Amino acid sequence: MAANKIRFLARPGGRLQGRLRVPGDKSISHRSIMLGSLAEGTTHVSGFLEGEDSLATLRAFRAMGVRIEGPRDGRVTIEGVGMHGLRAPDQPLDLGNSGTSMRLMSGLLAGQGMDVTLVGDASLSRRPMKRVTGPLGLMGADLETTEAGTAPLRIRSVERLTPIDYEMPVASAQVKSCLLMAGMYADGETCVSEPAPTRDHTERMLQGFGYPVARTANRACITGGGSLTACDIDVPADISSAAFFLVAASIAEGSDLLLEHVGMNPTRDGVINILRLMGADIEVLDRCEVGGEPVADLRVRSAGLRGIRIPEDQVPLAIDEFPVLFVAAACADGETVLTGAEELRVKESDRIQVMADGLASLGVDARPTPDGIVIQGGGNIGGGRVDSHGDHRIAMAFTMAALRAQGDIEIDDCANVDTSFPRFVELAAGVGCRVSQSGV
Ligand code: S3P
Repeated sequence: MAANKIRFLARPGGRLQGRLRVPGDKSISHRSIMLGSLAEGTTHVSGFLEGEDSLATLRAFRAMGVRIEGPRDGRVTIEGVGMHGLRAPDQPLDLGNSGTSMRLMSGLLAGQGMDVTLVGDASLSRRPMKRVTGPLGLMGADLETTEAGTAPLRIRSVERLTPIDYEMPVASAQVKSCLLMAGMYADGETCVSEPAPTRDHTERMLQGFGYPVARTANRACITGGGSLTACDIDVPADISSAAFFLVAASIAEGSDLLLEHVGMNPTRDGVINILRLMGADIEVLDRCEVGGEPVADLRVRSAGLRGIRIPEDQVPLAIDEFPVLFVAAACADGETVLTGAEELRVKESDRIQVMADGLASLGVDARPTPDGIVIQGGGNIGGGRVDSHGDHRIAMAFTMAALRAQGDIEIDDCANVDTSFPRFVELAAGVGCRVSQSGV
């Protein structure tokens, strides 16, 4: 049976109890491989996400001559080759489903003085790459996409990169990070301004590796020609994976769940802010800072949620969490309205349309709009069959919907859950979800 035949069966009801540490942060895991590979010395990573996306980045750097041991129980050791030590790979680098790998690596590789081609799976090959090739072209990089502006992405060697001062038209941490990585290879200072705050793991980690980044509220600047010094990285649990359980424990009556060691970077905590506005009971415990990133345990108990108008300033801070937030909205009293979120249409799937279709097939009134959705809550979720379109977060979101459904929910095309959340079914079942999987 083909890998995309993996299907989840989520039976109705259940409550969540106990404690859980979800896998490591995907964004931080990618960046640890990228910067560790370019550093001088040996970088030790713990808590690394052993998911297909971050493994795609790891394999790509191995293919460029970096010695990387692991992952073993989340531990990875990277023998850095220095800023100019990568070697051209023999073959195109296959980045699978991972937009972060492709967009960040396009910047990192643009100034390496080598030819390299980046390819991905069907979903990644549909996603817009002009947002990175455009500004990289302004820096003098030589990158070629298909006519549609998609991968394969061919990068050719250039003599030098010139710095730019770039105002991003969309709030995108991937574009920002791409340009900062290219900026390390440009002659002078590269600056990137963002229309709204986006995740700042790249800036934090660059500083952790001793590479200065000048930052103000909406702007980051980096000067080329510096170097990175190896360091140890403790990757916190991914708040984007914890989000499924924040919603699950909120909507399932009688739940009381502790999520351990969750990354609480203020550019990522929109899901908590939005759920609290909806009436969720989330307690933040034992706040601390680990390797330049804030971390905490989260205790979440069931609560009656109400529909809200989601503040647009929270959208970039919760950009990956909307599939499961739509499930929360379906269980809330009243209407939830999301606007200003057109970016959701160019994620691993068109998350507005795919979620609206899935919710509709479960009998929920969910009306897509060009830049968001309007969901009538009330908790009347029926059983049925939904297609995740190979999108990991859609598959996991509908698993949680079953907690409040009247019948079984069957979810198709779930293999890509492994991109961000290995052992999802086992861990979810371990805290009370009635989920199992079939297929190979
Ligand atoms: C990511 C940034 C976000 C997010 C993605 C990971 C990152 O994308 O959706 O899952 O690691 O930089 P955009 O920056 O394109 O919004």
